[in-house]
Amino acid sequence: MKTVIGNDITSAAAFLQAGELVAIPTETVYGLAANALNEDAVLKIYAAKNRPQFNPLIMHVASFEQAKQYIKDISAEAELLAAAFWPGPLTMLFNKQQNVPDLVTAGSKRVAIRVPNHPLTLQLLSQINFPVAAPSANPSGYVSPTTAQHVYEGLQDKIPYILDGGACGVGVESTIVGWNEDIELVLYRLGGIAVEAIEKVIGKEIKHHQKITDNPNTPGQLKSHYATNTPLYLGNIDELLLQFAGKKIILINFNHYHSSVPKEQQFILSANGSKEEAAKNLFRVLREADQLQADVILAEYLPEEGLGRAVNDRLERAQHSMKS
Ligand code: TXA
Ligand code: MG
Repeated sequence: MKTVIGNDITSAAAFLQAGELVAIPTETVYGLAANALNEDAVLKIYAAKNRPQFNPLIMHVASFEQAKQYIKDISAEAELLAAAFWPGPLTMLFNKQQNVPDLVTAGSKRVAIRVPNHPLTLQLLSQINFPVAAPSANPSGYVSPTTAQHVYEGLQDKIPYILDGGACGVGVESTIVGWNEDIELVLYRLGGIAVEAIEKVIGKEIKHHQKITDNPNTPGQLKSHYATNTPLYLGNIDELLLQFAGKKIILINFNHYHSSVPKEQQFILSANGSKEEAAKNLFRVLREADQLQADVILAEYLPEEGLGRAVNDRLERAQHSMKS
């Protein structure tokens, strides 16, 4: 199958209507979309990404109103968060109605749902009369795509259409939250909406953090997510440089170069120290660093606040280890 890259929303809608896959731009990363109500179409997502079917998919809708056709037991905090952040990089877990296929939720009675904030995709979602299931549009286990070209590199000839909406503005995936039996908010994944911003809206501190992995049933068995092919190590750069002396190294720095290493071997995530800009650049930089075919990529932590936390989380997941 030949993969076309274009910006024609009508073509994208027609492919989705016909049960085909379309890569869609969002503000976070590109998604690999299919009609969420068509199980044959959803199966194609798992196949194209080589994703295990026990790893559920986020459902994307045009509005909170549309979401309400598929979910129940909406908490007061969820109402507040939807009003504050949708459309935007926040995903919420809700009890699903029966019309959501088990294939989308991998058998769970909860569905993950969000309204993405990208003009092309919002238009597309309002032209079709079904929600789309969409994981990040990368082969399972590799770095998420933030441009149409990244999608093409990973999925060419496996999907008919990539809707090109330019480079993603946020650059890390959505923050995922849900509620436990006591209706207390649980943070499942750090992402494009800062923890601090959520706490401000709900008026209290988030007490429950429960990290999700993409391989919940088999921790340690699968290749970790976001992994580069070149082994990546995270920590204090000076110490890592000692540890890997004599190796061909690439550095991923937050906001400054290290004088002991040639500049051609270094990336800066944000020269002016913006954590938002660092998030936006992260996946592109990981891909470019990977292409330089070094022995190791060495990366440093960002300050653990705002989007710095999401960047650190993704770097940790990209780290060279099989531990989760
Ligand atoms: O920003 C994003 O969230 C992007 C764009 C495309 O919207 N999507 C994305 O999807 O990151 P994906 O599949 O790469 O990551 C979704 C995560 C996975 O770790 C999955 O296990 C979890 O969300 N997830 C999805 N549905 C779930 C559910 N019903 N219960 C628990 N976890 C769920
Ligand atoms: Mg993903």
